[in-house]
Amino acid sequence: MLAHASTSIPSIDASATPAQLRRFFYAAYCDTPTPLRWLSAVRPYVCPFDKLLQFVRDGADVLDVGCGAGSLLALLAAMKKIRRGVGCDVTAAPLESARAAAQRLGAENILTFELIRSVAEAPEGPFDTVAMVDVLHHVPPRDRSDVFAAAVRRVKPGGVFLYKDMTARPGGRRLAHNIDDYIFTREWVEQVPEGAVEAWAGDHRLTLVHDEYLPRLIYGHELRVFQRPER
Ligand SMILES: C[S@@+](CC[C@H](N)C(=O)[O-])C[C@H]1O[C@@H](n2cnc3c(N)ncnc32)[C@H](O)[C@@H]1O
Repeated sequence: MLAHASTSIPSIDASATPAQLRRFFYAAYCDTPTPLRWLSAVRPYVCPFDKLLQFVRDGADVLDVGCGAGSLLALLAAMKKIRRGVGCDVTAAPLESARAAAQRLGAENILTFELIRSVAEAPEGPFDTVAMVDVLHHVPPRDRSDVFAAAVRRVKPGGVFLYKDMTARPGGRRLAHNIDDYIFTREWVEQVPEGAVEAWAGDHRLTLVHDEYLPRLIYGHELRVFQRPER
């Protein structure tokens, strides 16, 4: 039984502004303790969710690797854009928020969230879309190519791998991210070096179909969309 049964969640669509997304997240994550609820709500001002949505095909089956509290899947389900969404993460607490939000959205039949010990344990799929948003900078550099390989292996032929992570350059934006992550996780993270993701994708015969650098406030984001060939 959810605590605030009457919370109404504003509807959203692909043209939603950060302010509309803030109101959406604040309502959908009403079961998440403050300050995490508040942080989820303000994230659209610094994280370009609006840019990610367009790369998920209507009716897609989506795996979100390192989904955290499931913001991306919550958005996709609320927009009725996906057929099914599976989120997995190595940390249990945010998955509780993700499940509660799915219930608030009436999307518990579409969205499921699984605790895993490594990406090797994620559902096999294959999926139309596999997303990995702001995960790799938390993975030790020596393990990154394996985590990447395990994620992209779950993309269907013709499907899409949607990658977004914090930029390594310019140094000012990298530092802003380092300080931010240090405050919230006590971890001085190491961003993924320029070109690394493209090189790993090449090893797995993925084609780069979209490449964008997205500055937001004091932060910078690297968006890459890869497609697996049909055969
Ligand atoms: C900054 S959060 C991003 C969460 C979510 N993708 C989002 O954008 O809201 C990073 C997440 O990656 C998860 N993570 C770190 N290493 C991971 C790994 N090896 N496999 C799966 N998830 C991992 C963390 O537990 C955390 O929830």
